[in-house]
Amino acid sequence: MLPTPPEGLRHWRPEDAPALEAAWSDPAVVRWSSPPPGLDALTWIAGAEDRWARRLALDLVIEAPGTERADRRGRVAGCPERADPLAGEVGFSGFTSDPARAELGVWVAAAHRGADVATRAVGAVTAWALTELHLEQLWARTDPANAPARALFARLGWHRLGEAGGNVIWSATPTLLR
Ligand SMILES: CC(C)(COP(=O)(O)OP(=O)(O)OC[C@H]1O[C@@H](n2cnc3c(N)ncnc32)[C@H](O)[C@@H]1OP(=O)(O)O)[C@@H](O)C(=O)NCCC(=O)NCCS
Repeated sequence: MLPTPPEGLRHWRPEDAPALEAAWSDPAVVRWSSPPPGLDALTWIAGAEDRWARRLALDLVIEAPGTERADRRGRVAGCPERADPLAGEVGFSGFTSDPARAELGVWVAAAHRGADVATRAVGAVTAWALTELHLEQLWARTDPANAPARALFARLGWHRLGEAGGNVIWSATPTLLR
């Protein structure tokens, strides 16, 4: 079963498919993050439970600021077919155990950038993953040319580990939460 995400985040719903397709066509999202190749959005959304069960990935919608609180397990009370506006996505992939680690990735839809959406979402999901998901370390990679992403992780206090494979590598461990 998918875990219940923190406030402001929720699981993907089929009604989100058009917004997801739009994001996957955004050159900035394609350039700096990795949309899954060869899958339509609806199929990808339907695969969430399987990806989590196999600890391949966990992908969460960042709700648009001001969105009414919906059931965070994925339903909008009284209106199950309605897609709430979404601001972006934050997710984990490449889960390992012993040590328990995962890579964090994030994108924010163009209309919501520069409004602290990623800062709030990554801050919340980092604390959640390091406590509720019992991960020992989160890591992220940013292209050195991706100034907004670099600013994001630096602002949140993630530790800059160095560079590997042409990317800057960032790390968050439970010490960040103290
Ligand atoms: C990176 C991204 C997620 C940031 O989302 P966001 O919601 O706009 O970020 P925030 O508003 O929370 O701000 C993040 C920081 O970037 C800064 N920033 C925004 N645009 C910037 C730019 N063009 N150049 C430099 N810094 C920039 C913000 O000022 C803020 O830093 P500060 O508080 O120190 O000033 C978003 O730009 C995005 O989706 N980019 C495309 C996908 C991507 O790059 N994902 C990251 C891969 S790891």
